[in-house]
Amino acid sequence: MKILDQEPGGSSTISYAGLLEKIEILRSALRWASRLDRPDIEKLLRQASALRDEVMQLSHKERFVNAAAAEPTRSDLSRRQRRKALIERSFIFEGAFGDNPKLLEALEIAEKAAPTGLPVLIDGESGTGKELMAKVIHANGDRADRPFISVNCGAIPDNLLESELFGHCKGAFTGAVGDRKGKFESAHTGTIFLDEIGELPLPGQVKLLRVLEAHEIQRVGSDQLIRVDTRVVAATNRNLRKLSDEGRFREDLFYRLGVIHVTLPPLRERKDEIPLLFEFFGDEAAEALKRRPVEMTRRLRAFLLDYAYPGNIRELRNIVYRLSCLAGQTADLEHLPADIRPASQARAAAGPESGGDGQSLSADALSEAKRIASDLAEREFLERGLQEVGGIVIELAKRCNMNRSHVQVLLKKHGIQSKEFRAAARADKAI
Ligand SMILES: Nc1ncnc2c1ncn2[C@@H]1O[C@H](COP(=O)(O)OP(=O)(O)OP(=O)(O)O)[C@@H](O)[C@H]1O
Ligand SMILES: [Mg+2]
Repeated sequence: MKILDQEPGGSSTISYAGLLEKIEILRSALRWASRLDRPDIEKLLRQASALRDEVMQLSHKERFVNAAAAEPTRSDLSRRQRRKALIERSFIFEGAFGDNPKLLEALEIAEKAAPTGLPVLIDGESGTGKELMAKVIHANGDRADRPFISVNCGAIPDNLLESELFGHCKGAFTGAVGDRKGKFESAHTGTIFLDEIGELPLPGQVKLLRVLEAHEIQRVGSDQLIRVDTRVVAATNRNLRKLSDEGRFREDLFYRLGVIHVTLPPLRERKDEIPLLFEFFGDEAAEALKRRPVEMTRRLRAFLLDYAYPGNIRELRNIVYRLSCLAGQTADLEHLPADIRPASQARAAAGPESGGDGQSLSADALSEAKRIASDLAEREFLERGLQEVGGIVIELAKRCNMNRSHVQVLLKKHGIQSKEFRAAARADKAI
């Protein structure tokens, strides 16, 4: 039989073509061998080990070259480029929108985590998009066409938890009238999303830990072990590390769940993308309501750009839908939900007689009125200024004796596009 003449280790330059050739020779040697003697087997084993080492060297070299090529550009990539790069890599956004660097970072982590099958822990305040992010991870992995099963751990009564997660057998407890699959079995080969994991009581945490370690479950009332291949993504709006320091969440479970940790920033830390989200949800609402996208008065826009959004993206989305539904062509402060409406508007909405109870003169109302007035003045100043300088930001900054980047931050805050002023100036000239 013919075995590679050349003993491994001779060649100094490794290439995929060279490796493929060696593998082919090895394959044909094995295909035609009717029987192999011990020395031949040992020779083949040596050759196979050498090939493995060469592949590893090559992949190491390739990773090194790729990393070196990617490094200088990665940190400089602008938001738009980072988003574009995700799109070009066929990333599935599942409707997640925005271009704030913190959100992009979360999406990039999701992209890397998705194909691995490693557990992911997502944390963030209510309404920041944790469930959406779990779906993004599922959709970008190789389990995308398998089930995605969502469990709200905070909503299951303690006595039903085990049966809900692992299923039960007929007669296991009063009311168990038949065999029933649990969520883990339903999510077999797919993803289980354990929402509000911080609410899981300690006994449930012990059981969950066992599944994560052994990949096996037992239905309540059965001795049989059932193997489950389920990818776990968990989410919480609580600080699990703190809960675990206080002894309310098992530390070992915290580390098991959070092999990859994604934190979604609250909207108040990514205010820069609010104008973009207005547009996005405005178009979405218009489509859903079959109408033209709603416009906003300046004062409503100023108010919404500055609002704190305790309910994060969910709240912003709901507000835009509400405005789109209640307002005609243009929405104003009076279309806001009463509980967030600025004090002066709430008073006006409540009618003239409500002004006499002293509430309208509270310190809160005064500071709110000042804030709105100051925002409006700032916005008008910027718009007038841009008009005067034909939309050239650097010129405006010079005239106001301000730093250019500061002017840009202010323009962003108010959602003002300097390019619109430049276009207007060009149009004026053309006339
Ligand atoms: N980046 C985003 N782009 C577009 N829509 C988003 C984004 N983030 C969240 N949303 C939308 O906001 C709403 C709330 O998102 P989601 O339910 O994922 O939040 P959550 O963090 O799980 O909230 P909770 O803690 O209250 O369960 C959903 O309608 C979701 O589609
Ligand atoms: Mg949620």
